[in-house]
Amino acid sequence: MMFPHMLLVFLVIFLLLDDVFAYDIHKYSLLMPEIHPDKDELYLCTPVRIVNKQYYIVGFEPNATMHDVHHMLLFGCSVPGTTDDVWDCGEMAASDGSKNIRRAIPCAEGSHVLYAWARDATKLNLPEDVGFQVGLGTKIKYLVLQVHYSKKFPGNKLDNSGISLLYTEQPQSKLAGVILLGSGGTIPARSISHMEIQCEIEEEKTIYPFAYRTHTHSLGKVVSGYRVRKGKEGDDWLLLGKRDPLTPQMFYPVFNKDPIYGGDILAARCTMENYRDRDTYVGPTNNDEMCNFYLMYYVENGNPLDTTLCLSDGPPKEYWYNSKYNLNNIPDLEASKL
Ligand code: CU
Ligand code: CU
Repeated sequence: MMFPHMLLVFLVIFLLLDDVFAYDIHKYSLLMPEIHPDKDELYLCTPVRIVNKQYYIVGFEPNATMHDVHHMLLFGCSVPGTTDDVWDCGEMAASDGSKNIRRAIPCAEGSHVLYAWARDATKLNLPEDVGFQVGLGTKIKYLVLQVHYSKKFPGNKLDNSGISLLYTEQPQSKLAGVILLGSGGTIPARSISHMEIQCEIEEEKTIYPFAYRTHTHSLGKVVSGYRVRKGKEGDDWLLLGKRDPLTPQMFYPVFNKDPIYGGDILAARCTMENYRDRDTYVGPTNNDEMCNFYLMYYVENGNPLDTTLCLSDGPPKEYWYNSKYNLNNIPDLEASKL
């Protein structure tokens, strides 16, 4: 006779606690709409429009296997690459593309990378009380899923790989953002080059970094990112993340979670080894190169930074040592060594 009462008491307590501490987390599955990858090295994009309400994305769950999918990227856009359900969005595809579908970049305007999946990546939950604010009143009106299929599928086999977004309508107190550091430039044939990027955070805001991602094509050896703070003793370089960019290109925890203030400088270097007999330029295809360092962070008050991009001209023009910030204490060896 005691048992049902106890159960009721527990149930009431549970419901009360639930009301106080929790809010509803919903799941939206953004998946490829049963498509057939009809060639090797195919990149496909599919969008979802979010305009009526404001949402907070607090986590990402991949629905893909490395057997079928090489990588997935989730972009937030103000305008998607096309109005189609699916398009060919191969950044690195240099060839003729797929039959019957349009080719376009993932985002026509306002592109942010919010999540990346490759190989052994599991789900990503943002830190507590942190969310990406999307939809009504924000610059992110669409989410676009990019899936890279490295191999053509046999027969008529279809695919619906994708990402489940964990979201809530409950406003999150800390909003997440991503800043992309990228270099232009040329890597001369048969040489090792440094592609370097630096820019000051010009907004009077404090950001809390928590994850980073590196991206190059095939010539990247090491990509490192730093926070540089000017001081009486010279510049203080704090390592945010460093890795071999040819390992899975997803978001990893930062090495240092110290807050970054307005007036600090973000810096990144890609050490590139060009084994080719031709100069290689920055560009979208597999014949070109890229040097990117993404920093994911949150702010404790207000909105994330308006700045989403930090770009440099790269080699042979612009380096850390000749930048306008007069950088000193440059960790020249450390930045290129794993
Ligand atoms: Cu890929
Ligand atoms: Cu690229």
